[in-house]
Amino acid sequence: MRCAAVLVVVAALAAFASAAPLKMHVSGQRFADEDNRERFFHGMNVVNKVSALMLVLNVPYVPVIDHFDVNFSFSQEDVDVLTGFGLNVIRLSIMMDGAMPAQGAFNETYLSLMQTLIEIAASRDMYVMIETHQDCFSASLCGEGFPTWLAQIAVDPMTPALPLPLAEPYAIDPVTHMPSAADCAKLDWSDYQFTAAQADAYQKLYTVGTPANQGFSDHWRRIVQRFKNNTNVIGYELINEPFAGNIYKNPELMIPSVADRVNLQPFYDNLSNVIREQDPNAIIWFESVTWDDFVPMGFEHPPGGFQYSNQSVISLHYYFGPNVSPMNQFAARYSDAERYGTSLALTEFLIDPSDTPSALEHMSKTMDAADKYQMSWFGWDYKVFEDTTYGPSIWWPTNGTYNWPVVETVARTYPQAVAGKTFHYSYDVATRIFILEYYVNAACKLPTDIFLAEDVHYQNGYTVSVNPSNVVTQSSIKNHVYLTPTSSASNGKFVTVVIGPTK
Ligand SMILES: *[C@@H]1O[C@H](CO)[C@@H](O)[C@H](O)[C@H]1NC(C)=O
Ligand SMILES: *[C@@H]1O[C@H](CO)[C@@H](O)[C@H](O)[C@H]1NC(C)=O
Ligand SMILES: *[C@@H]1O[C@H](CO)[C@@H](O)[C@H](O)[C@H]1NC(C)=O
Ligand SMILES: *[C@@H]1O[C@H](CO)[C@@H](O)[C@H](O)[C@H]1NC(C)=O
Ligand SMILES: *[C@@H]1O[C@H](CO)[C@@H](O)[C@H](O)[C@H]1NC(C)=O
Ligand SMILES: *[C@@H]1O[C@H](CO)[C@@H](O)[C@H](O)[C@H]1NC(C)=O
Repeated sequence: MRCAAVLVVVAALAAFASAAPLKMHVSGQRFADEDNRERFFHGMNVVNKVSALMLVLNVPYVPVIDHFDVNFSFSQEDVDVLTGFGLNVIRLSIMMDGAMPAQGAFNETYLSLMQTLIEIAASRDMYVMIETHQDCFSASLCGEGFPTWLAQIAVDPMTPALPLPLAEPYAIDPVTHMPSAADCAKLDWSDYQFTAAQADAYQKLYTVGTPANQGFSDHWRRIVQRFKNNTNVIGYELINEPFAGNIYKNPELMIPSVADRVNLQPFYDNLSNVIREQDPNAIIWFESVTWDDFVPMGFEHPPGGFQYSNQSVISLHYYFGPNVSPMNQFAARYSDAERYGTSLALTEFLIDPSDTPSALEHMSKTMDAADKYQMSWFGWDYKVFEDTTYGPSIWWPTNGTYNWPVVETVARTYPQAVAGKTFHYSYDVATRIFILEYYVNAACKLPTDIFLAEDVHYQNGYTVSVNPSNVVTQSSIKNHVYLTPTSSASNGKFVTVVIGPTK
């Protein structure tokens, strides 16, 4: 019996393995694949911001893709390591400064390298969410993400110079149009959002029809044209951590939810239409301003309108300080997702490489809360890349070996696919006991697929108990337990699965 079941499962998987990764769609507050199994993702951000160092090396924004490097790569070896720990998704930044370094001129070399990276991920069934990263707009405004030309057409020449009103104006290099790195380092990076120049830049970016807004639409149009054929791309996040807009002209924008309604809604509506002209099936991920924590988001509808609820995903970030409670924040966003009819995912939280007991505990608490809301998650950040504030999360940077306490914390047991409707799943980091409860969908051809990192958590083996035992058959390969409905009579049956280490 057992052998037969294994053969059936392996045959079914093989039938799909030869093809590209299954395409995803949104199903209520979850994701689902072409077989209508609910799907869950754990993964990392792969966000390579600019830096002077990388510009000197002449590889702006692109991880090393042809070999492993502890600080800088996203290569085949990285994908093998990550998927071996159950990490099956990345949030990949395609920086606008990399994609369109001059107005109207795309860097096709950069886009081709990103295409290669997406294909490397696809080789192990890893999914990719594409986002346009920015923090504080542009390097020319002491931030990163958008090209200097976009900042130049966005900021009105009459606007008080950077960093007014926070400090006296910085000298600007007449050739590069950049302030010096030493000047930018004088204030905390996030303070620059409160400069008049950035406030104005964001306002112009959001105002549909301005040259800055059209430049950004041009970027997204090309990104979607270029990457839409990859079946492992699970959508596009319009903009990372949008600031409110011109808070000096309209101070009410600082009130939670106001900027969502006044500035981001029309901006997102137009941009999502631009994207859907290229790919009608595009899944669009969207964020509110970062301080909406506990209040409802201010949008009237998901980007483009309620007819796109089932192609929309709320993207939320949680950092302990400034944020305070993952449970409360996730509850607020879950209500938003129900109200909008969208899915949701935790697209940033800190995978803290310091591996202190309190850091590990906080990571686990955040992931426990994500499990409670059946939310996929993406840790920040996978590698140093250029951002020296955080080391590579699962490696020791100096000797390139695994940071094992961090690996143990992120390599959680979880259902990567549920052939049915998921009721609950949870994983206890202390006991390594995993529980899944779901209603069987016998129409799914592919099995429920539970990931468990055997070499990390179950070195002495594991036990699986399924109740009732006659509704599904069990099989396994390394790191995966599969459950297949026994017959159509199983349809709708409630199943409880418990996995734990062998005593
Ligand atoms: C285009 O991208 C490639 C690869 O990242 C880089 O080497 C090159 O300098 C870029 N060109 C421009 C004009 O930015
Ligand atoms: C987006 O807004 C611009 C400027 O108003 C308009 O020309 C364009 O048609 C809009 N695009 C879509 C797809 O709605
Ligand atoms: C995507 O697929 C379509 C249809 O096969 C093809 O016409 C188009 O050139 C492809 N785009 C890219 C960027 O590969
Ligand atoms: C998404 O919702 C629209 C109506 O709002 C519906 O026409 C469409 O069939 C739905 N798509 C899926 C995949 O459920
Ligand atoms: C090097 O790796 C080992 C694990 O193999 C680890 O315990 C040690 O702390 C690492 N050293 C540094 C300096 O990171
Ligand atoms: C990786 O980066 C860290 C911190 O920036 C540095 O100390 C370390 O030497 C680097 N490791 C390698 C192998 O380059």
